[in-house]
Order: sequence, then C-alpha cells, then structure tokens
Amino acid sequence: MNTLNYNNSEIRFGALSDSGFNDLISTGRFKNAKKIIFTDEHIYDLWIEHFILENDSLREAEIIQVPAGESSKSIEICLQLWETLSAYEIGRSDLIINIGGGMITDLGGFVASTYKRGIPFINVPTSLLAQVDASVGGKTGVDLGPFKNQIGVFADADFVFIDTNFLTTLPEEEIKSGYAEMLKHGLIAYKSYWEDLTRINPVSQSNKLLDRIKTSVAIKRDIVVEDHKEEGKRKILNFGHTIGHAVEGFFISQNKAIPHGFAVAAGLLTESYISMQKKFITPNDFDQIKNGLNELFELPLVKEADFPAILNLMLNDKKNTTSGINFTLLKGIGNGSYNHIVPIEEIIPALQLLVK
Ligand SMILES: NC(=O)c1ccc[n+]([C@@H]2O[C@H](COP(=O)([O-])OP(=O)(O)OC[C@H]3O[C@@H](n4cnc5c(N)ncnc54)[C@H](O)[C@@H]3O)[C@@H](O)[C@H]2O)c1
Repeated sequence: MNTLNYNNSEIRFGALSDSGFNDLISTGRFKNAKKIIFTDEHIYDLWIEHFILENDSLREAEIIQVPAGESSKSIEICLQLWETLSAYEIGRSDLIINIGGGMITDLGGFVASTYKRGIPFINVPTSLLAQVDASVGGKTGVDLGPFKNQIGVFADADFVFIDTNFLTTLPEEEIKSGYAEMLKHGLIAYKSYWEDLTRINPVSQSNKLLDRIKTSVAIKRDIVVEDHKEEGKRKILNFGHTIGHAVEGFFISQNKAIPHGFAVAAGLLTESYISMQKKFITPNDFDQIKNGLNELFELPLVKEADFPAILNLMLNDKKNTTSGINFTLLKGIGNGSYNHIVPIEEIIPALQLLVK
C-alpha cells in the first residue's frame, strides 16, 4: 500500500476505494465505533452522497455540516460541535471523520482532540492545500476573532487518506493556492523537486499530482518528525509566510481577500529577493524562482502607500523583535534556513517587487 507513517499517524495515498478506507472503518479498529462526519456545505453538496454510498458502514453515520469558509473556524462553531457530540453520546472509542479542506481538518481535528480529552479522528482532505499541508503535521485549531489559529493543540490524525479524485471539483484558484505550498516545499528542501514542479501545470495536468503530493507530504513529515512543536527546524516551513501572511492580512483588511496561496507566492518571491540581497542565493537562482512563480501566479499588487500597513502586520507578529523581523530564508534553492532577523530597510526593496 502507498503509505507514509509518522508518530502514531498513517497517511495513505490513492483512491479511497483502493486504500483500505472501507475495511478500516467497517471491519478494522473502528468496526464498532459510532461514526460522525464533519464537513462543510460545499463538500456536503458535491461529495457526501457518493462518499456514503461507497462506504457501507457510513450509512448510519451522523453527518454534520458547517458553512464553508474561514469564519467557521471559530470557538462558537466548536461549542456547537462539542454539544452535538455530547448529545449523540459519543465516547472515546468512537470516530470522527473530517472530510473537507483545511478549514474542516483544522476545526474537526481540534474538536476531536479536545472532546473528552481526545477521541480518534481521520482526515480526508479534499483541497490541494489540505492534502499537502493542513491535514498533516498535527496542528489543529481555530481562529480567535481576527487572530488566526490562536486557539489550538498539537494532535495527529490517526489516519489521513489522500485521494486526488476530490481535486476534480476544486476551483482552479484553489489548485494554484495549494501548489504554492508545494513550490515552497521544493524551495526549502530539494532543488530537483522545485524544478520538477515548475515543469508541469497543476491545473491542466492535475492527473500528475499524486506522486508530487506524496513528495510534499514526505518533506513536511520529515521536518515535523524532527521538530513537532516548532521549536527549531519546523520554522523552515514558514518560508514565504512572513511577508505572505502580512500581504494576506492586508487584503483582508481592505475587504479584498485573496487566496492564501497567492499571498504565499508573493511571500516566496519577496523572501527569495531578501535571500539574494544577503547573497544567500545568486541572482540566477532568484531569476529562476521569479520566472517559475510568474508562470503560474498573477501576484497580488500593492501600492507603496500600503507598505506601512503591511510592515505593521509583520511587526505585530509575536515572533518579531524591535531590531527586525524574523524570517526563514533560502541558502540556495532547496535549502531553507530559519531565524534570520531582517531589518525593515532590507524588507522595503523586496516589497517594491509587488508594486504596480
Ligand atoms: N494545520 C495546518 O498545518 C495548516 C496548514 C496550512 C493551512 N491550514 C489552514 O487551512 C485552511 C485553508 O485550507 P483550504 O484552502 O483547504 O480552505 P477551505 O477548507 O476553506 O477550502 C477552500 C474552499 O474550497 C472548497 N473545497 C474544498 N475541497 C473542495 C473540493 N474537492 N471541491 C470543491 N470545493 C472544495 C471549500 O468548501 C472552500 O470553499 C486555513 O484555515 C489555514 O489556516 C492549516
């Protein structure tokens, strides 16, 4: 079987029908468990009927859907879900199945791992971002008002099933959004993987994604196994996200939200530029990164007048000090390096790359 293991979690790749999902929940460890499915309204409409029909033992499962979108990643929704679990008398040997994008795997994982001090859960990620990133690595949680992921716990899914058939209904922008995280994996870990990713178009060649998703998950797995709680090496996964998150937050504050991955792509470009300024990568490397990103993404553009707001969002991050902002940078393509304090004067020229 096509699997990767880490901690007590098993990640299986391929069509759900071929990867033992039905056996696991009907005859295996979860045979006698009551099953609860958490999903969002889009996945409910697109996939749940098919999912239940394909898996006999889910006929009796309770299905709970929440509104799609980040606003469901809230403590108010958690409360409703905990109360529902309690009303169904769900116990520690029962099972939660999270089927959806990263919002559902973050929310459902958090609800499962806090209810009765933790009950088993399986993630079935349906977006590319969730398949390569959110559903793996043990970070679960919800937002607290405008503060993303403020409340949460580290808890690994017992199983993750990655089936690229779900991507057939995923909008093009969401495919690209997940692909930005895969490009990041190449940039921080393997030059040859980065080059390979730049040779395909994830939208028109989505049939070529499964092996690459597995490579990305293996890269993330190897990093989080070494540093589960982000005390050191896991920080290299933040490459592209310091400026990326600030750009994302800036557009949200303007009521013009952009897909997460497009903000990350802007972060990959600008943080590569800072790496070049520091002579960690060559101008040639930088051009290669710029061309690869430009092929795929229409990068979000800002005005110089927006820089103070964007810089403020970076400074408000608790990881930063008054002398500068803590970045993960590249020391060559395929080699991420964390804990670099960069002064504001060195960030501004990088932001210029995003000016109209
Ligand atoms: N835990 C982690 O390590 C981690 C890592 C990265 C991101 N995240 C979190 O993940 C979330 C973002 O993930 P996301 O982009 O998947 O968000 P999402 O779950 O909101 O999904 C994005 C949109 O795609 C839809 N969708 C999902 N799968 C689909 C499919 N197969 N067909 C059609 N539509 C589909 C959803 O309904 C939603 O409208 C954020 O909350 C982020 O904080 C967590």
